[in-house]
Amino acid sequence: METAHTTYLIGIAGEEGFLGHVYYGPQLPDDNMQYLMRLDEPPLLPECNSRERASFYGSFPFEYPSAGGGDFREPCLAAETPAGGRSCELFYEGHGIFAGKKPLPGLPASFGEGCTTLEILCADPVLHLRVTLTYTVFEGSDVICRSARIENAGDAPLTLTEVLSASLSLDNRAFDIITLPGCWSHERQIDRRPLTFGKQGAYSARGISSHQFNPFLAIAEHSATQEHGLVYGMSFIYSGNFIAQAELDSCQKIRAVMGIHPDGFGWRLAPGEVFQTPEAALVCSGQGLGGMSRAYHDFFREHLIRGQGKHRYSLVNSWEAAYFDFDHDRLLRLGQKASEAGIELLVVDDGWFGHRDDETTSLGDWYVNERKLPGGLKRLADELLKMNVKLGIWVEPEMVSPDSGLYRAHPDYALQIPGRTPTLARNQYVLDLTRQEVRDCIFAQLSAVLHSAPIVYVKWDMNRALTDVFSMGLPPERQGETAHRYMLGVYELQERLLAEFPDLLLENCCSGGGRFDAGMLYYSPQIWTSDNAEAIDRLGIQEGTSLVYPLSAMGAHVAACPSHTNHRSTPFATRGQVSLPGAFGYELDLNKLSEEEFAMVPGQLAAYREFGPLFRSGDLYRLASFRENHSYDAMMVVAKDKALAVVHYLQVMSRAQQRSLRLTLAGLDETRRYRERETGVTRSGAGWMHGGVLLPVLDGDYQGKMVVLEAVD
Ligand code: DGJ
Repeated sequence: METAHTTYLIGIAGEEGFLGHVYYGPQLPDDNMQYLMRLDEPPLLPECNSRERASFYGSFPFEYPSAGGGDFREPCLAAETPAGGRSCELFYEGHGIFAGKKPLPGLPASFGEGCTTLEILCADPVLHLRVTLTYTVFEGSDVICRSARIENAGDAPLTLTEVLSASLSLDNRAFDIITLPGCWSHERQIDRRPLTFGKQGAYSARGISSHQFNPFLAIAEHSATQEHGLVYGMSFIYSGNFIAQAELDSCQKIRAVMGIHPDGFGWRLAPGEVFQTPEAALVCSGQGLGGMSRAYHDFFREHLIRGQGKHRYSLVNSWEAAYFDFDHDRLLRLGQKASEAGIELLVVDDGWFGHRDDETTSLGDWYVNERKLPGGLKRLADELLKMNVKLGIWVEPEMVSPDSGLYRAHPDYALQIPGRTPTLARNQYVLDLTRQEVRDCIFAQLSAVLHSAPIVYVKWDMNRALTDVFSMGLPPERQGETAHRYMLGVYELQERLLAEFPDLLLENCCSGGGRFDAGMLYYSPQIWTSDNAEAIDRLGIQEGTSLVYPLSAMGAHVAACPSHTNHRSTPFATRGQVSLPGAFGYELDLNKLSEEEFAMVPGQLAAYREFGPLFRSGDLYRLASFRENHSYDAMMVVAKDKALAVVHYLQVMSRAQQRSLRLTLAGLDETRRYRERETGVTRSGAGWMHGGVLLPVLDGDYQGKMVVLEAVD
């Protein structure tokens, strides 16, 4: 396979047809690279040395490794027979290549014009498993999408105990591993460390992709920087349990795998049944981390996010403005202020339904609280529309409160283990979305609410991990399917929502950024990045997030000061600048802003109107990271036609020096001339990039500056 700049080679070895990974890296002109499998070195192919089949298994670079035969590294496939046997062996059977790509029923999946798919069929002749490995390459892109489809072609049922989406085989050469660990309010912090012996990586067994890790892994040359060096990326297009793992073995070989986490997983495959894995998106960049990020950004925007072109409303959200303490009149006052400033959308967050005045009640009862909102959402929406402000609402459809009509009527709708009281988190239980009747009940309620009023935006929240992972709707031998079936249930609900309300702008959310993943992006073009909207902490959260995901996907709001999460105070202008590259909005009571602050809002909205399209489509270059230098932060976005660029600089800590900071830029056309909008200074692209822009010492901590460069020829 060839992508824009890389080559990926697979080989078939020996008479038995072992499928091996040969090469993945910068594009190669040669077409026979099979020597890289080292078949002439010990341990030899079993047909040449039948005594040492196990040694061969232990070192061969399997393209899709299976468990049991003597390969002691992490497998992609493990199956258990009714007799309890656990061994699985795959041999090449054939392959086909076709233009385009098949959809993955029920799963988020990449799509697009100009792509080509390779399918390789392998089989286990003893278990009668047929495994189809699918690879898609996209014209002009450096992403390769991989997935696997397992079919039971025999007449006995099997249980798949591990079935991952992709595996990579690399020779070690002083690599680092990069993951995005975090926690609530500090999601996706970049962690880079040398790749060492054994297994390391990222994972979630919480039923959500989680705050603690992100379904992403990079393996980078130790010397790789933002714009130089070799970097491999693996991103999982899935939102539930996952494993993203690199393993360095004693032969100095790395096996990197990605897929659904095997812990607690067991998928019963009756004769004739098929299991389809989610996709993993692989990138190999020869242009450092920035090259990997830009490849992912373009790929997600063009081949995964279906609503990328939807209008991204500037909004004000009621959560940090009022929490549960609102009624019709207070929301109207917020809407009135939004209207005066020119904000397009008011989002009524948690608290508009059932009898919910705090977090103890009403999840599952999706009808309007008429005490708070007499006349319902319709009256509110109509009155807002008169002020030229649209209405959006918050929902948390995956949950049920013990104090709710739904739970009283259907206690079995909650995930629970028979005989045990399910574990509460945030006073709520998780609905068993593996069951059709539970999904139908929730969908009917949501649909009625959305039909009741002109609602243009929905924030879909999810505020706890899955516990008590047991479904009343599944037989004992299928309980290991619950967590994945839950995820399929969430995807089905979001798909139905979009089918019934195609113009709706959906924003996913999970207690802040606990489900910020490529799977969710298939359904919602933007995701709430973190409950921590404080500008300085946000720099690190947004840097980590944008390592993989496009700026346009990051919900980013100007929040109140001092911050409700970390109590830090930052200037209003700085909060605006930090939010501007994302899906922009306000998370505060506009009525409580000072006159001076409120007067800045129209300017911030004008900047969002002007630069939003650039941030949503341009190339991101990270120039400096506060995380690394403890002093300042800088990135820039360059338009695809290189006619416009915006440099986004933040002096986090004030500096005693009087001299300016020389910030060298990236991504411009060296030969064109660019004029700086504020000063009129005009220089060549080479001048700005290598000579740099001189940034004056700003007046104090947390001060920002944006430099706009426009091509003049
Ligand atoms: C968690 C979300 O991240 C917040 O933005 C807010 O919607 C609350 N839930 C509401 O309960």
